[in-house]
Amino acid sequence: MNNFIYHNPVKIVFGKGTIKGLSSLIPKDSNILMTYGGGSIKKNGVYEQVKEALKDFNLHEFGGIEPNPKYETLMKAVDICKNSKIDFLLSVGGGSVLDGTKFIAVASLYEDGDPWDILSKGVEPKNAIPLGSVLTLPATGSEMNMFAVISRESTQEKLAFGHPLVYPRFSILDPETTFTLSEWQTANGIVDTFVHVTEQYMTYPVNAIVQDKFAEALLKILIEEGPKALKNPTDYNVRANLMWTATQALNGNIGCGVPQDWATHSIGHELTAFYGLDHARTLAIVLPGVWKHQKNNKEDKLKQYAKNVWNYEGDDAADKAIEMTEEFFRSLGMKTKLKENGIGTEKFDEIAQRFEERNQKLGEHENIGKKEVIEILQLCLE
Ligand code: NZQ
Ligand code: ZN
Repeated sequence: MNNFIYHNPVKIVFGKGTIKGLSSLIPKDSNILMTYGGGSIKKNGVYEQVKEALKDFNLHEFGGIEPNPKYETLMKAVDICKNSKIDFLLSVGGGSVLDGTKFIAVASLYEDGDPWDILSKGVEPKNAIPLGSVLTLPATGSEMNMFAVISRESTQEKLAFGHPLVYPRFSILDPETTFTLSEWQTANGIVDTFVHVTEQYMTYPVNAIVQDKFAEALLKILIEEGPKALKNPTDYNVRANLMWTATQALNGNIGCGVPQDWATHSIGHELTAFYGLDHARTLAIVLPGVWKHQKNNKEDKLKQYAKNVWNYEGDDAADKAIEMTEEFFRSLGMKTKLKENGIGTEKFDEIAQRFEERNQKLGEHENIGKKEVIEILQLCLE
C-alpha cells in the first residue's frame, strides 16, 4: 500500500427528518443563496422543508441548475452572489446542483479573470464562499468530497476541478428525499456509485486489504440492494443503505493508498460533452470497453473481483467478471453499447484528440493515449 494522508472535514447529518436541523448548521446572520435544479424539490416537499427550517435567515434563491451543470448558467448565480453579498451557499438537490454550487463558491471570489481557468488551466482558487448541501440523489459522492464537474456549452467541454475549499461544511442526507427518484435516475445512481468503486479498485493488487474488502462490500451492496430500490422506491432501509454506499464510494476512503484508474469517467465525460448522455449512461457503455482493452493489466484484480463479489472462480474468471458486470448494468435498464444509443464512430477521432491536446494519459499505468482511446471506443460500439 502506498503512503497517504486521509483527511475529510465534511460533517454528515444522516436520517429521516434531518432537514429540520439546517438552522443549527448555518452560521447565524448568514446571507444565504439557496441553489437548486429544475424543480424536483418543489414537487417532493424538500423545498418547503428547507424554507421552513431557514425561515429566520436571509434567504435568496437560484433555481434552474441543469443536469451536467453549465458554466453559462452558473455565472448568473455568480452575479447574484456578488451583487447581494452572499456569504453562504446552500445546495438543495443532486450532484449537479452541488457541483454547480462548488463552482459558484470559487467563481464568485475569483479575481484573476475568467473562473473557467480553474477548470481548463488548473488555476488554483484562493477563496470560496462556504457551502453546505441537502442531497436528494445518491450517486456522485459530491456531498463528501472536494470535486466538481462542470460543462461549458459554448465549447462542448466537460471538465473537473477539485480543491479543499469546496468541501461542503455539512451535508444533510435524508433518504426519504430520494423516494421520488425515477427508475431511470435510481439506476443512474447505482451505476455511478458502482463505477466510482471500480475506478479505485480495478487496477492491480497492492496488498491494501482494508480498501479492497471495503470496495468489494460496497459493490455487493449495490448488486443486492440496487434492484430492490427499483422495485420498491419507498423502502426506507433500501434507500438509506444506497445513500450511504454512494457517499462512502467517493469520499476518499477506499481510494487512499491505492492505484486508481479514472479512464472510464474521463472517456464518459467526453460522451456527455458531445452527445449529452447522462453521466452514468456513459459509464455503463465505457467500463466494459476499458476492462476488455486492459484485461491483461487488470487480470489479477478482475479475478479477485470475480471471486469475492460474484463468487466465480475459474480460468475464464477475468472474462466472466466483465460479462457479469455488463449484465448487471443491463438488468438495471442500462444500454451498454454506443450503437444502441444511436452513436457511431463519427466523433471517435475528435474525442481521442482531446486527451492528446491536454497531454492526458489515462489508466493506472498511464498507458491509454489517443490510439488506445479509439480502440476502447471501438470495443464499446456494438
Ligand atoms: O433538476 P431537478 O429538477 O432537481 O431534477 C434532477 C435532475 O433532473 C433529478 N432529481 C434529483 N433529485 C431528485 C430528482 N428527481 C426526483 N426526486 C429527487 N429526489 O435528477 C436529475 C439528475 O440530477 P443530477 O444532479 O444531474 O444527477 P447526479 O446526482 O447523478 O449528478 C450528475 C453530475 O455529477 C457529476 C456528473 O458528471 C454530472 O455532471 N459527477 C460529480 C462527481 C463529484 N462531484 O465528485 C463525480 C461523478 O463521477 C460525476 O462525474
Ligand atoms: Zn461518476
